[in-house]
Formats: sequence, structure tokens, C-alpha cells
Amino acid sequence: MNSKLLMPFSSPYLGQLKNSIVMSAMTRGFADANHCCTDEIAAYYTRRAKDGVALILTEGIIVDPGGDGYCNVPHLYTDQHAKSWEQAVKQVQAAGSKIFAQLWHCGRISHSDFTGGLDPVSSTDKEASGINRQNDKTFGVPRALGADEMPDIYQMYVNSADKAFQAGFDGVEIHMGHGYLIDQFFDTRINERTDIYGGSVENRCRLGVELIDILMRRYGPDKVMIRISPSREMGGLYEWPDLDEMLGYFIQKVDELGLRLLDVSCANADYFQTSGKVVRSIRSIWPHYLMGGASLSIEEANQELEEGWLDMVTWGRHILANPDFVTRARMGQEWLSMTNEMRAVLL
Ligand SMILES: Cc1cc2nc3c(=O)[nH]c(=O)nc-3n(C[C@H](O)[C@H](O)[C@H](O)COP(=O)(O)O)c2cc1C
Repeated sequence: MNSKLLMPFSSPYLGQLKNSIVMSAMTRGFADANHCCTDEIAAYYTRRAKDGVALILTEGIIVDPGGDGYCNVPHLYTDQHAKSWEQAVKQVQAAGSKIFAQLWHCGRISHSDFTGGLDPVSSTDKEASGINRQNDKTFGVPRALGADEMPDIYQMYVNSADKAFQAGFDGVEIHMGHGYLIDQFFDTRINERTDIYGGSVENRCRLGVELIDILMRRYGPDKVMIRISPSREMGGLYEWPDLDEMLGYFIQKVDELGLRLLDVSCANADYFQTSGKVVRSIRSIWPHYLMGGASLSIEEANQELEEGWLDMVTWGRHILANPDFVTRARMGQEWLSMTNEMRAVLL
């Protein structure tokens, strides 16, 4: 099939790529008891790389014990954690693909069951509503971070990114979306702070902006990507408050700081009602690398690329369900839909 999606190309920040297909970060919960990567996890990513996925974004990997909120997810802050990823990284790269570690702090989407007994931390001291499906309990009551604690948060990401590079990852993706820690600061409904990390658009963006500043200075534009989800599915359609103003400020600011790799997510919403609108609104002020998607068809993906809205297209569930996702795309074969049975194993 002759399509832009499937053509190899050379990108300024990611180098030589087999095509424009990206595997979205997907939490799977198969880490070992020490929160390390296993041979099975390595084989799962390697299968996708060998089939031709150009860029793999790993499942969310926790940057600090206090940032966990899920069962059996990998962590990355010790040499042992770093070592455990080496095989996965080496095998994916040997197959000619790139692999970025998604770095994740859950903030208040957590419970002391997952943080070693610590209160979760957040922008706020109000707990998230609903039941945490990970332990069938209500979410923990968070402790609002003090402004003087932000350097500790930045250090968690720096330490974790250092470990990622020790393991050989091509880069890191900072998870700033889906209602987790950094996203909790973006949102007036969760962030009622009166200090420099709350209130105005500038203040609500400050945590993310300061973190990017530190990471850009330390690692450079080819090593750091961020994922944001300004418009998404979250128990219904959800958008950042002051969406246009927030995007205008945040995107310009991270551009000034030298960020060049941006992944816009909508979780599992309809792409065209959410991320598709966001990329159209920011494209003129973000001439750099832009990724997005959510279960797009090949035709839709090609159209987003041809029209210049996206530079690469992300898929989650279809790549989870189809280890031969790229082969099927080349052959024009339909992808299988993800089932709960598929989710329960590392296909
Ligand atoms: C099982 C599963 C786990 C996920 N875990 C993460 C995650 O760890 N980090 C993240 O940014 N998004 C996560 N997502 C969201 C996906 O990356 C993706 O944005 C979403 O599934 C929409 O894309 P799709 O329609 O192609 O699946 C997850 C999605 C699924 C289905």
C-alpha cells in the first residue's frame, strides 16, 4: 500500500524512522515484584518493533515510590530498575525502532496502598471522586504540595530520566495528561491554590513549564517529549478550563524552552472531537514535531499526515491487540479489536 504513513523518513529530532507509526503508552501491570521490567515485557515490545512500529512509547513508568497508584506497574529510580529495561531497549533498537520511556507520577490518582503508606500528593488536598479500580477503594486524600517541594518533584523526574538513559532509552516522554500529577495543576477544578502554582493560566502551567525547562537544559530537544491531553475522555468529554488561553500560553512557552516533541492525547475519546481539534488549534504556533491519534483508520491517519496536522500517528489498543499491526496495515487487512482477554496477557 502506497501511503505516507508507511514510508520511511528522516526526522530532525528522532532520526531515521521506518514509518510514521507510534505505539502509545499503555499500562499493562506485568512488572515483577520489584517493579522491574521482565523478559516477557521485553518480548512484547520487541514483537511490535520487529513487525515495524517505528517508535514505541512504553507504558507509564513510575518516577518515585510516592508517585505510584497502580498494581504491578514498573518503576524507574534505581540501578536495578534501569538494568531491567536494558534488554527491552536493546532488542527494540536492534529491530531498527526507537523507544522512549514514559515517565509518570500519579499524584492524587492513588492511594496509600500504592505509595508505601504515604499520602498521595497533588495540587490540592481534595481527593479524586469515584472508586479506584486498582484496589476497589475510594482514592486517597492527597496532601497539597508546598511550593518549596517542587524542586523535589523535578528531581524525581531527573533521576528517573537519568536511569532511563542509563538503560539506553532513546528518550523520555513526560506524562502531563490524563488527570495525573502535572495535569492536576493545569485544571482550576483541581487546583484552587493561591500561591505561584495556582490561579492564573501562567501559574497553573508553572509546574509543567519549570519541569520542561530543567529537562531541556539537561537532555536536549531530541531526548524529551511530553504528552498532554487538553481535550479528552474522562468519564465524559473533558477539556482544560480556559482551553484556548492555556494552549496559547503553554505551547508558546515550551517552544521557547526548546521542546520539539509533542504528543497530544485524548485517551480513548473520538479523535476528531478532541485531539483533532487541539492539533488544528495549535498547528500554526507549533511548527515542530506533533503526534496524536486514537484508533484512527489508515485513511484517516494518512489524511492527518498529508494535510500536515500530525507528523506521526499514535495507536494504543489496536497495537495491543495486533502484534502484527504494521503487517496488517501494509496488507490492507483489518485490525482485531482489543478484548478483555487480550488485555489480560502480554500478546
Ligand atoms: C490498556 C491501556 C493502558 C493505557 N495506559 C496509558 C499509560 O500508561 N499512559 C498514557 O499516557 N496513556 C495510556 N493509555 C491511553 C493510550 O495511550 C491511548 O491514548 C488511548 O488508548 C487512545 O488510543 P487508541 O484509541 O488508539 O487506543 C492506555 C490505554 C489503554 C487501552
